[in-house]
Formats: sequence, structure tokens, C-alpha cells
Amino acid sequence: MLFRTRSFLFILAALLCLAAHPAQAGHGHDRPDKTGILLVAFGTSIPEAQTVFDTIDQRVRNAHPGTPVRWAFTSSIIRDKIERTQGENLDSVQQALADMADQGFTRVAVQSLHTIPGQEFHDLRATIGAFDGLPGGLEDVSLGMPLLSSDSDLRRVADALLANLPGERSGSEAAVFMGHGTHHPANVYYPGLQYYLWERDPLAFVGVVEGAPPLNEVETKLAERGVERVWLLPFMSVAGDHARNDMAGDEPGSWKSVLRDKGYEVEVVLTGTAAYDQVVNVWLDHLHTALERLPR
Ligand code: CO
Repeated sequence: MLFRTRSFLFILAALLCLAAHPAQAGHGHDRPDKTGILLVAFGTSIPEAQTVFDTIDQRVRNAHPGTPVRWAFTSSIIRDKIERTQGENLDSVQQALADMADQGFTRVAVQSLHTIPGQEFHDLRATIGAFDGLPGGLEDVSLGMPLLSSDSDLRRVADALLANLPGERSGSEAAVFMGHGTHHPANVYYPGLQYYLWERDPLAFVGVVEGAPPLNEVETKLAERGVERVWLLPFMSVAGDHARNDMAGDEPGSWKSVLRDKGYEVEVVLTGTAAYDQVVNVWLDHLHTALERLPR
């Protein structure tokens, strides 16, 4: 009995010793490793659209229990607008990373919730580069790729978009996805996605607000294929301003108005891609890769 008590005490002492001197102190420094996740989105000022961020937040926490999750928003216009209209103070990437460093984080996986690796993503990469290995701050920062960054992503996203089309859409009706588009070279992901959509469904199209392919090129194809009824859907993470106004707005010049003027019957769906589980899965896989890339 005495022996048992003494060995118990010995083990307890050993455990206390380990707790006081964590074995996994990072890179030989005396600070213990603390890993965090930073999710980065463009942002939206539309409250209904903000709820999809809550869903993503929950899915990330479920996938990585025990790892703190923070958010940052890259659009200063959106951050200012939300502060003015909702009184909520959202972080920029710089602010969030500086706060995480202050709070003792040593390793951060930053996950881009952008759609393509365009200007926003490259700006994010530059910002992160300034924090990676900052003396006394974050030791390691890794960056998860946006939604579309490989052939495999394009295939998965094409599947996800088609799987989430409304059941009422018949096979003779077109589905037109409105992407943001950009003049950055990464715009090529939109025609790339178009290729995989057509492999699966000849009446599924992608058009963009900026860059290519524009709506008039999509419309030429609709006419060639004798389409009468068109479903318009956002190919953006949230159904924000572009989806509500440029796509589905009643003003002349919106995609809905342009197609109706050309004689098409038009139905609109106001659901952003971040509301689809299969799309969030792609971001989650990229986050997983970013966490794995953090040096141990
Ligand atoms: Co825009």
C-alpha cells in the first residue's frame, strides 16, 4: 500500500514537472506552442448572408476541436459599413494576426475563404508573409488555398454546384452561375470551371461580372442551344450585393432584366456557395493541408 502511494506521488510529481516545462516548446524557445486558425473572408454587409459564416465557423470548430478559431475580413469598405450600421468591430488580417501574437499563439493556419487565388488572395499572402517568423511573435503561419486552386477542386465544385440546383429545374432549362471575375490572371479558373460543368451538364454555364466570360457570351450560347428558361445562381461565397443587385435586381442592366428583355423566362436563387456543405468541404480540406504544413 505504502509502495503504491509513493509511486502515485512520483507519477504526480513527474506530471507536474511536465506541465511546468512543456515538452513541445516551439523551436527551442521557452514559449509553449499554441496553434490557432484564422478564417479570412471578403465580408458582406448583408445580415442574412452573414449567417453562412456562422455555419462555416461551427464546421471548422467541429473538425478541429480545441483549436481556437478567429475571423478576419479583407474588405475595409465592408468592415467600416458593419461598424457604422451594426456597431460591430471586425478585424482586418493585420489586426487579427497581431492580436493572436499578443495572445501567445505561435502557429497559425490562415484559411482563405475566397473563391479563386486572385488579387485578394495574393494580398493576403503578402500580409501573412510579414507576420511569419516575426521575432517574439508568430513563429509559423501557413496559408490554405482558396476554393478553386486545382483540377480536383474544379471537379468537386462543379459536382457541388450541380448537386445543389433546385429540384424544380428541368434538364432542358439552363443554370447560369454568376461569378465575380477579375482582371487578375486567376480569372482563368472561371473558364476552367465551365469546362467541368459542361462535362457534367451541357446547360450549366458560368459568367462573371468583371473579366470573362461576360453575360453576353453566355447568352449567345443560351440562344444557340434553344434555351427558354434560365435559373440564375450566384457563384460567390455569399449572396451579397452583386447577387442581389447585379444578378437578381429589378433595374435594367441586371442579369435578370437583360435575359428577360431577350425573351427568356428567368428564375433566381439567392444562395451563396458557402451555404453548400460540399463546397465548405473543399475549404476544410485546404485548411487541413495548411495545418499539416505548420512545422511540428
Ligand atoms: Co465586386
